[in-house]
Amino acid sequence: MLTKEVNELLTQVGASTPGGRLLRYYWYPIAPAAELEENPVKKVRLLGEDLVLYRDRSGNLGLIDEPCPHRRVSMEYGIPEQEGLRCPYHGWLFNHEGRCTEQPAEPWNSTFKDRVTTKAYKAEELGGLIFAYLGPDPAPLLPRYDLLVWDNVMRHIGVTMIPCNWVQCMENSMDPVHVEWLHGYYLDYIWARKGLPMAPRSAGRHKKIGFDRFEHGIVKRRVVEGHTEEHDAWRVGHPVVFPNILRSGTGFQYRVPVDDTHTLHIIYQVYVTGLPIPPQTSVPVYEIPLTDAEGKYMNEILLVQDFFAWASQGPVAARELEHLGQSDVGITMYRELLKEQIERVERGEEPIEVYRDPARNRQIDVPQEAIDATYTSRTAMAMSGRISLGSAYERFSPMLPGLLDLYREAERRILAGEPVLTVPEATPVPIGDHHKQVVILP
Ligand code: FES
Ligand SMILES: [Fe+2]
Repeated sequence: MLTKEVNELLTQVGASTPGGRLLRYYWYPIAPAAELEENPVKKVRLLGEDLVLYRDRSGNLGLIDEPCPHRRVSMEYGIPEQEGLRCPYHGWLFNHEGRCTEQPAEPWNSTFKDRVTTKAYKAEELGGLIFAYLGPDPAPLLPRYDLLVWDNVMRHIGVTMIPCNWVQCMENSMDPVHVEWLHGYYLDYIWARKGLPMAPRSAGRHKKIGFDRFEHGIVKRRVVEGHTEEHDAWRVGHPVVFPNILRSGTGFQYRVPVDDTHTLHIIYQVYVTGLPIPPQTSVPVYEIPLTDAEGKYMNEILLVQDFFAWASQGPVAARELEHLGQSDVGITMYRELLKEQIERVERGEEPIEVYRDPARNRQIDVPQEAIDATYTSRTAMAMSGRISLGSAYERFSPMLPGLLDLYREAERRILAGEPVLTVPEATPVPIGDHHKQVVILP
């Protein structure tokens, strides 16, 4: 349980709030690059600010305030020029630094444009995503996390807008036991109600859960029935990269704080098929729907089960009313880390996970259980099985048929004794001084 004041401290994202000041130290994915191929101008909202992202005809990205400073028309309807974005109303032109470079209806010798600017932020592209930075100068480097820069992989990007505060999504990542219940017992219940066949369980009963702070954030570990501490799920675990990324399998789940009561969820999934493949010219994007045509949660889909759990906690969960048990120790650890980093920024210090050294940023490897195996036919079969049953979000992806073909080809090569590519084995995060664990079953 938190007081109302601490709940606000942890969840507010506006520029004038302590939480918002912390969050402005990080880069956020605001759009898949593929979306700008279709329409080079896109309205976005990030950390409570309404902005317009565009790619001009020179290929440069710009991210500026949504209203035009002249008479407040939305730059969402702007025209990308050779350099900058032109307002549709009276043709004022703004460059990516927010400077007004043309006012075609003003007298030819006017210098008014030199005194007009609009708010402008940095935007950069990496791995098929466009990231934005809204914080103080100098901007840190855009972190080059491993999955964003690996070669010989296929990627796709699934987006969903969730009507709740971003911290609810992050707390879920510090909550291993929900897998057993939400994605197990509840899944069975929902599938039975919908007359679907029994889905395979994601996890057995949890015997023990554990958490460690590490350089990028927090690692969570679990031992489920039938496993020991030698299993990767305990030895390596899977990490939350502070402040807002869950690493799961070969995927990132970005929880992008849109405002106090909305989170843009981006699942960035990377598939290692074991085959040498050329880089994708464009990383496909698709929407994972939260609700069906009748507005009901699509809670037969495993990932959407998480989404609806967060959304149903309310726009901002009333943490002053909750009753935390011992198995919520990971949630408490995340809240403490978040509070600590907010306080750091308020003291004028820099928070964790901010990169300024290009050598360190060449590729940032994040530990993750079970990424050492090259995906083979078993993965493909498991995925096809889950897709045909309807529990996998991948079924919404346009990339799916091509991906399954690659897995089949990988299988053929493995059976023929031909080599396939693998990814490096994850380095386990050691059990640290601040380790916390809870034994659930003897
Ligand atoms: S409102 Fe934008 S140029 Fe006039
Ligand atoms: Fe989950």
